[in-house]
Amino acid sequence: MKNILVVGGAGYIGSHTAKVLEEKGYTPVIYDNLTKGHKKAVRGYTFIKGDLGDKKKLAKVFAKHQIDAVMHFAAFTEVGESVLNPSKYYENNFCKVINLLDAMREANIKYFVFSSTAATFGEPIMEYIDENHPQKPINPYGSSKLMVETALKDYDTAYGLKSVCLRYFNACGAHPSGKIGESHSNESHLIPLVFQAALGKRDSIKIFGTDYPTTDGTCIRDYVHVCDLAAAHIAALEKMAETGGSDQYNLGTGSGYSVKQIIDMVKKVTGLEIKIEYGQRRAGDPAVLVASSEKARKILGWFPQYDLENIIKTVYKWEQKRKY
Ligand code: UFG
Repeated sequence: MKNILVVGGAGYIGSHTAKVLEEKGYTPVIYDNLTKGHKKAVRGYTFIKGDLGDKKKLAKVFAKHQIDAVMHFAAFTEVGESVLNPSKYYENNFCKVINLLDAMREANIKYFVFSSTAATFGEPIMEYIDENHPQKPINPYGSSKLMVETALKDYDTAYGLKSVCLRYFNACGAHPSGKIGESHSNESHLIPLVFQAALGKRDSIKIFGTDYPTTDGTCIRDYVHVCDLAAAHIAALEKMAETGGSDQYNLGTGSGYSVKQIIDMVKKVTGLEIKIEYGQRRAGDPAVLVASSEKARKILGWFPQYDLENIIKTVYKWEQKRKY
């Protein structure tokens, strides 16, 4: 197991995983259509501009680079947009993944690591969401990811294609080098927006709802560093190759932080003032989403290395140096 095709590797989580793969002695090969990704995020790696709809190109890439396993990061991830334009989500996040899996079958590539999401669970019915929590997504984004999870079970049974589904909670942070980090054209995520407010790139940060049943009234999420997620991909790949079995893991730190606590931590780390506005709840936001990652800890030996303060420090470094 050496050559790993990182599909969507020029995007946020893909580019960090490529870097961690390289640090651990693997050879990442990046395949990305650059609709969302950044070429600057994958400098120094083999890069192929290509789309997952292009089976012929995938076949050539698999053969030329002697690909042993595939990691998929090429999804659209905006929950709100998925409600307004489900076609875009089912097409890209489901149909194109099936295309990729079929190209893998034809090339006899047996190992697949899939970026899934906490959004496959829908409204939480338990405090810490573990792998046994019912999966009832409440938006097309979550549904499109769950459809792939379902297909992967069937592909294992029928074709012996082994996979690991990794359900991220709130991915955040940047590589400690500060050379790569989170960069979206229409940013909607909390931490980058708080930094925009701190650095004067926007007037303020608006808190979506202050009347949630939480200690300070704002939503609680489980923020997990992108390099910890990257490390989980590699641990999951290695476990799958060792045991020859497919599996699923929830990935979070098991600690929840409120929107206000995030803003306070950015203030503490940067020493900058942040203007806050108080707004209405955002549709579709559950009050609390926190992972139980006991299974990943026990089976993969995965322990997140970054606490919230260190997460925010890596973002600050990235924000001060960012080139894209
Ligand atoms: N928030 C604000 N103001 C903002 C932006 C966000 O108050 O300007 C709040 C949200 O209401 C939410 C929290 O900050 O309570 C985090 O919001 P994000 O948009 O950063 O992240 P989400 O929790 O909505 O979603 C993220 C990913 C999804 C994934 C989900 C799984 O974007 O793809 O985590 O937990 F499905």
